[in-house]
Amino acid sequence: MIAHPMQNMQNIVSMRDFDLETIGELITRAEAFKAGAQVHLSKPVYAANLFFENSTRTHTSFEMAERKLGMTVVNFDPQHSSVAKGETLHDTLLTLDAIGINLAVMRHSQDGYYRNLISSPDLDLGIINAGDGAGEHPSQCLLDLMTIKETFGHFAGLRVLICGDISHSRVARSNAEVLGKLGATVLFAGPEEWYDHSFDQFGQLVKIDDVLDTVDVCMMLRVQHERHASESGFSKAAYREQYGLTVTRAARLKASTIIMHPGPINRDVELDGALVATKRCKFALQMRNGVFMRMAMIERVLKARHLGGLN
Ligand code: CP
Repeated sequence: MIAHPMQNMQNIVSMRDFDLETIGELITRAEAFKAGAQVHLSKPVYAANLFFENSTRTHTSFEMAERKLGMTVVNFDPQHSSVAKGETLHDTLLTLDAIGINLAVMRHSQDGYYRNLISSPDLDLGIINAGDGAGEHPSQCLLDLMTIKETFGHFAGLRVLICGDISHSRVARSNAEVLGKLGATVLFAGPEEWYDHSFDQFGQLVKIDDVLDTVDVCMMLRVQHERHASESGFSKAAYREQYGLTVTRAARLKASTIIMHPGPINRDVELDGALVATKRCKFALQMRNGVFMRMAMIERVLKARHLGGLN
């Protein structure tokens, strides 16, 4: 058997960059961390988490992963940083790099903010994208894949419905990018005005009520109020009625179907609050798995950069 050369991931910014072997390796490694595997860094490694958009899960989970790996986390507060005085992202990273930060985990509202940064010859720190505008959210995608694998043991043949505010969702884009390649069938549902035809290449736009009883995974997306130019006509009750996963709709799901949500949840809008605590809803499991998947991602970047004595 020919050994597969490990994909060199100096930065992790988009699911487009992943081959399927690497996705499998990261899931296996995250499962090992979940089972208690540990890493010993023989040299210090410093991380900074730069969140220019709000976050609870991703920020806390990356910091937990960094600490579990034995890294030193250096506090960075965007609101009190010199970005507020007009310093560019590039110069911010140049500063952190010069100070000795090895890894920057970043979330920013600008789609693809990382493109010039990862190719910049004067920056020598790793970048992990923790969400770029309506672009991608690779760590959420990978923890979602880990959760689906943990539940079903495979991806091939699964029907995955991604439902809601598709065009504004980096979670939808990252998951759509890889689920089909892994052998799943992807379906989209939600308001047509919040659908973007660039998703057509990944799956079909359907009505939630037409497919509910046929899907294996029901991935509900948050209505991203902060990304909508105008919401004058938006009604929570009307959205729930037309597109939400309600208790009534959930009664039509197969017994084996799981409900997923990246969080934060608008309870009783895209997902009924009463469904969140049910066994089929994997919301808490997704968040638990997120720490282990982020450990696997960070370890991969450290290895590619020969940091901490890892190879
Ligand atoms: N899923 C997710 O990205 O959640 P946070 O915005 O809380 O990080």
